[in-house]
Amino acid sequence: MKTNLCVDLNGLVLKNPVTTASGTYGFGREYGEYLDLSLLGAISVKGLTLEPREGNEGVRIAETPMGMINSVGLQNPGVHAFIEHEIPFLRSHDLKIIANINGNTIEEYCEMAQILDHADVDSIELNISCPNVKNGGLAFGTNPKVVQEVVSRVRKSTSKHLMVKLSPNVTDIKEIARIVEAEGADCLSLINTVSGMAIDIYKRRTVLKRGSGGLSGPAIKPIALKLVNDVYHTVKIPILGMGGIATHEDAVEFLLAGASAIAVGTANFSNPKAPVEILEGIQRYMVQMGYSSVTQITGDLK
Ligand SMILES: Cc1cc2nc3c(=O)[nH]c(=O)nc-3n(C[C@H](O)[C@H](O)[C@H](O)COP(=O)(O)O)c2cc1C
Repeated sequence: MKTNLCVDLNGLVLKNPVTTASGTYGFGREYGEYLDLSLLGAISVKGLTLEPREGNEGVRIAETPMGMINSVGLQNPGVHAFIEHEIPFLRSHDLKIIANINGNTIEEYCEMAQILDHADVDSIELNISCPNVKNGGLAFGTNPKVVQEVVSRVRKSTSKHLMVKLSPNVTDIKEIARIVEAEGADCLSLINTVSGMAIDIYKRRTVLKRGSGGLSGPAIKPIALKLVNDVYHTVKIPILGMGGIATHEDAVEFLLAGASAIAVGTANFSNPKAPVEILEGIQRYMVQMGYSSVTQITGDLK
C-alpha cells in the first residue's frame, strides 16, 4: 500500500508530519551525524532573539523521572547571525525551516517578525511563553488581552506563515487558542513546557539556579494530549502537536487527538534517531490500519 505522508498546515506544506521541537535541536547541525536531516518534515530552530544571548547561568537542567526540567533560557546567536550562518546550512537540506521568535516586549516580537519577513524561512513560530518585561515578567501567553495584542501586531508585521506556540501554564487554553485564531495565525503549536521545580534535599536548595523551569518529556504527554484534543475541538486552524513524544505510538496518539503534524523534543537528547524511527513507525501503522494518507489520522478518535 502506498502511504501519503504530506501534510498542509494551512500554507506550510510538509513532506511528512515529523518535525523537531524548538530548543531541542539547535539548528540541526549536531544531529546531522546521526540522521539525514532531509528525512525531516521541518526543523523548528532554537528560540531566536534580536541580540545574541548566553542563556541562564548555573545549573539549568534537572533530570526527573520521565523527563527533565530546564531553565536554559534563550541561548542563541541572535536573529542576524541565524540568517547569515544557519539558514544556508538548513537550506542545503530538503526540509522546512520554522523560525521560533521571542521578545521581551511586543515591539521586539514585531521587529523580529519584520526581519524574518525578508529571510528565507518557511514559517515563523511565535513563542508567547516569554516573560513580558513591561508587565512584571508575566508570560505573554497567560493573559488573553496581551495574547490578542501580540498576535495581532505580529500578524501585521509579516506575511510569512505564522504559527503561535501555546503554553500549557494557563487557566483556559481554549480561550487563548480562539483569540490566536481570530487574530489571523495560520496554525498552532502546542504544548510548550509545564512549569516545574526540583529540590536537592541535602543542599536544601532548588536544583536549578533560577528556582524553577519547564518540565518536558514523557511526564507531560498526557497533559499535552488532552490540551491538543481540547484545542482541536475549539479552532479550525491546524495543530502541530508536541509534549513527550518518544515513539511512533506517542506520535499517532497526538494525530488521533487532533494534531496534523508532530514535533519531537526531549526524546532527541536520549535518542537522536527518534524522529526517523517515529516516521517509519507512523508509516507501518498506516499500512496496518489501512490509512492511505496521514491526514486521515488527524482527529480520527472513535
Ligand atoms: C532544553 C529545552 C529548550 C527549549 N527551548 C525552547 C525555545 O527556545 N523555544 C520554544 O518555543 N520552546 C522551547 N522548548 C520547548 C520545546 O520546544 C517543547 O515545546 C517542549 O519541550 C515539549 O516537548 P517535549 O516534551 O517533546 O520536549 C525547549 C525545551 C527544552 C527541553
